[in-house]
Amino acid sequence: MDKLTFIFLAILLCGSAVGTRPQPRDGRATLAADGGVCSAVVGVQNYPCNEHNVTSGDGYILSLQNIPFGQSGNAGKGQRPPVLLHHGVLTDAVTWLLSPPEQSLALLLADNGFDVWLVNARGTKYSLGHTSLSSNDPAFWDWTWDELVTYDLPATFQYIYDQTGQKLHYVGHSMGTLIAFAAFPKGQLVDMLRSASMLCPIAYIGHMTSPLARTGAEKLLAEDVKLLLDNLHDHEQDKLVVEYTENYAHADYVMGFNAKQDVYDPLMAFLRLH
Ligand SMILES: *[C@@H]1O[C@H](CO)[C@@H](O)[C@H](O)[C@H]1NC(C)=O
Repeated sequence: MDKLTFIFLAILLCGSAVGTRPQPRDGRATLAADGGVCSAVVGVQNYPCNEHNVTSGDGYILSLQNIPFGQSGNAGKGQRPPVLLHHGVLTDAVTWLLSPPEQSLALLLADNGFDVWLVNARGTKYSLGHTSLSSNDPAFWDWTWDELVTYDLPATFQYIYDQTGQKLHYVGHSMGTLIAFAAFPKGQLVDMLRSASMLCPIAYIGHMTSPLARTGAEKLLAEDVKLLLDNLHDHEQDKLVVEYTENYAHADYVMGFNAKQDVYDPLMAFLRLH
């Protein structure tokens, strides 16, 4: 972690968890059933959006969406810093796009000069491909959080780095923060990293209903929260920005109507500085 420079840490304690996701507006859940995230959600909002695939070292085909610029057009092409948004547990990239454009972090970033990339973790609706396994095959599901850290995050970082030729800002939510904190100490990602922003890095998952997901997530949380705190303890304090908002429900981070003011605006100010 000592190589990592700038961290934006938003909130240490977040209230409830996934499962509280509001119904998307305009029946977009139905739309999302086909065609991928771009055509389902971003296209509806009239933003440019390209679908990409990245194959992890163990054969999982992850879907990525790139929103290269916003509604204000493509001025500053080639200078837009890439930002990777990683969703939390039991959600996918759509989670960054459910609110109106001025309140959806992905679209807000695109409108503010960033080249936005969204990843869908293996096993989520848009990342069910594999080079040799079918998602109906039990072997497809034979992985743990470690593989996200070891294979998926490095493959995703490398892909975006290769595509853009630039180091990236990383923004994780919930599980997206925990896998990053587990991956960064291993070193290889940090060379491609400009800054890391962690939204809801510590969360309760009491509302999660799937026992399997719950066991995995609890184990992950217990281990990596400890790692997180150990790592940050030695982090240079002037490189760590902590935003603390009490009683912010976990899911609110990506879709609460006041998230823009409470979290996204300070986050964007942080990204501009680094
Ligand atoms: C990504 O891979 C899936 C199969 O997993 C395929 O259906 C889709 O067309 C690919 N998309 C792109 C943009 O390559």
